[in-house]
Amino acid sequence: MRLVKVKGYEEMSAFAAGRILEKIKGSQEVTLGLATGGTPVRMYELLVQDYKRNQTSYRHVFTYNLDEYAGIPSDHPNSYYQFMFQHFFNHVNIPKENIHIPQGLTTDLHQEAKRYEKLIDKISGVDLQILGIGENGHIGFNEPGTPFTKETHVIELTESTRQANARYFDHEDEVPTHAITMGIATILKSKEILLLASGDKKAEAIYQMFSKDHDVECPASALKTHPNVLVIADEKAAARLE
Ligand code: F6R
Repeated sequence: MRLVKVKGYEEMSAFAAGRILEKIKGSQEVTLGLATGGTPVRMYELLVQDYKRNQTSYRHVFTYNLDEYAGIPSDHPNSYYQFMFQHFFNHVNIPKENIHIPQGLTTDLHQEAKRYEKLIDKISGVDLQILGIGENGHIGFNEPGTPFTKETHVIELTESTRQANARYFDHEDEVPTHAITMGIATILKSKEILLLASGDKKAEAIYQMFSKDHDVECPASALKTHPNVLVIADEKAAARLE
């Protein structure tokens, strides 16, 4: 696991967008694993800016989102589906059929998790996975205590994650209690991983990720076993290292 320290949020976002563009421009077909949340918002804006300026084509890009809330429809304003279209997919020329996001509202969520995992197996893991990190060290929605062997599954969100995500909802009790998420084992199938972290709220999680050795209480520490992980942390997020 390598670390790149950058000054702030803007530089972190530009670094990540640059790597995605390199991949897109350098491959005839590319599969991206994508994250939602506050961290990648500027990265998506920069990709959209690039698209407007340079018309970088996304026709050969296939995307697989990490997770989705359970129990809300894809047209719910807080669904990750809406997030992705609003921040990214609506603004570039990616074919809709290339986009994959778990369905949070189905009669059988466990079946949906299996279906999603099969899609990722079919491509033998994504080429480039973008991750954020939760204040409690989660990646995707793999909360502390989740076995690292789990593939895509349904998970109950912790109180701290629901509180952290309440900023997007009118009331905290509207935040869904469950989600469907790629498991750690799914994430580890990726060929390359970029984990982005910005701000002092992430400093403890970044410190734990580097100091813990494959500890289920710090899900992000699972990334230590992967051969190609780059952590891009800004000064505040990296403040507790060294
Ligand atoms: C989002 C995801 C989560 C977030 C994490 C950080 O798809 O899987 O793991 O990356 O909760 O969220 P922000 O960026 O809002 O701090």
